[in-house]
This record gives sequence, C-alpha cells and structure tokens, in this order.
Amino acid sequence: MKSINELLSYKTNNKPITLITCYDYWSAKIINETDIDAVLVGDSAAMVMHGFETTINAEAQMLAYHIAAVNRGLTEKLLIADMPFLAHRKGKKNALNVIEKFMKQGANAVKIEGAGDNIEIIKYVVDSGIPVMAHIGLTPQSINSIGGYLVQGKNNGTAVKLIQDAKNLENAGCFSIVLELMPAELAKEITEAINIPTIGIGAGPYTSGQIIVLQDLLGLSKNFNPKFLRKYMDGFGLIKTALNNYNKDVKERNYPNEKESY
Ligand code: KIV
Repeated sequence: MKSINELLSYKTNNKPITLITCYDYWSAKIINETDIDAVLVGDSAAMVMHGFETTINAEAQMLAYHIAAVNRGLTEKLLIADMPFLAHRKGKKNALNVIEKFMKQGANAVKIEGAGDNIEIIKYVVDSGIPVMAHIGLTPQSINSIGGYLVQGKNNGTAVKLIQDAKNLENAGCFSIVLELMPAELAKEITEAINIPTIGIGAGPYTSGQIIVLQDLLGLSKNFNPKFLRKYMDGFGLIKTALNNYNKDVKERNYPNEKESY
C-alpha cells in the first residue's frame, strides 16, 4: 500500500489501522513482510537511535538518512516522515525544501506536530500536493512548553480545544491525525467528530488506529515503561543473552567450530 486512500477507507469501513515507527533498512525489510499498514520515520529517531533526550535534536539531514534507509527496505507500505523541530516554522520555503528532500528520499507524506497557527503552513503544504498527517495532544517537540510527558486534555477547556484543533486540521486538508497521550474518552470524541482517521498512542482503544515505536514494542527500551506500552517481546533480554552467548563461546573456544570454518 503506497497511498493515503487506503488509510482513509479503513476509517469508513471501521477497520483498525496499524502504524509502526522505523528508522533503518533491516527493520524496514521485516516490516515490509508484515501486515502492518504504514510506517513513520519519526523524529523519535533522535532519542531511540541517537541517544538524545528529546526529539528536538532531530535534524532534517538526520531524518533524511533514516528515510532513505527505510525506503530501501520498504517497497509495499506508505512511508510517512516527521517534520523536524521548527522546520515548518521557518517560512514556506524552508518547509518545502525539507519536504522536498524527504520525498526525494522516499517519503510519501509528512507528519507535522501542532495546530493553532501551524494550520496556515499545513494548508499550504497540503495545497502543494503533499499529504499531511497532523499530531495533537502531547506534542514532543513542545516538551519544554508542556513541562513533561504529561497526559493532555484532562480538563474541559483543554479537551474542547483539542476537539476544535482536530476539526481545524481536518478542514486544512490533513489525511489523518495522531492523538498522543490523552484520555481514551477524549480520543473517542475527537475520532467521532471528524471524518479522517485518528491514530492513537497512549490515547486508548477508540481511535481509528494505533502507532507505536518499534523498539518499544520489541522491548528494547528497558527503562521505558509507560502505562500505554505493551511490549510484545523482551528484546533487550534476548539480545543481551545472544551477545553473552557469543562472548562465552568465543572465550571458551567453542566458536567458530570445525563446521563453521573454511
Ligand atoms: O516520532 C515519533 O515516534 C512519533 C510517534 C510516537 C507518533 O511521532
């Protein structure tokens, strides 16, 4: 699937949508053979792959390398790329230069955090023929304003604002909206208030689909254990054991053996 139309039809047909983040070629090759619907090269790459504390350190060039690597392994799925911190706030020309770079590396769409006065640039990007996924609720690029990874929309005023943001983003032409870290009932209300699909992360079960960071799902992030995260394997433990087994075999002169030698 390489088009946004299928994602849109999923909502119409009440079929859940699955998205996963991916930053590299070998993971992309595995995801390519799964039933997962679409892939995001998220700016979380700055944290997961480069060890930064926030997504603020994701640079356009950094993400471009990840997009290119993922695209080489991903032939079957829609590839969405995150607009990095401030890239869409430095004027239309800068926004389009970054998007051009991403799309030439293989992105089919971009994700832009926030609503408010971002709506104008989002509309411009959409009018330029670029599919835009929006992202509201907890928007990690604004972590310094928000003050932490906190659940958003918990009181009536902020909830009403988020519902209005979602409507404005739909009117601006976005093809879907990520809803991050908000009460499940609010995510449900937003999902019912708009026609485009909502993709939740820490937003409960009533969104049109879910997204999760690949390394979190695989249990590779040992100390990251938010309530919403379901780890589908103990990747950290399995990899550590494999590495220790390799180390032991070499130290005990059990690897390579005769069959593994020329
Ligand atoms: O960068 C990212 O991984 C994201 C998802 C968590 C939605 O934006």
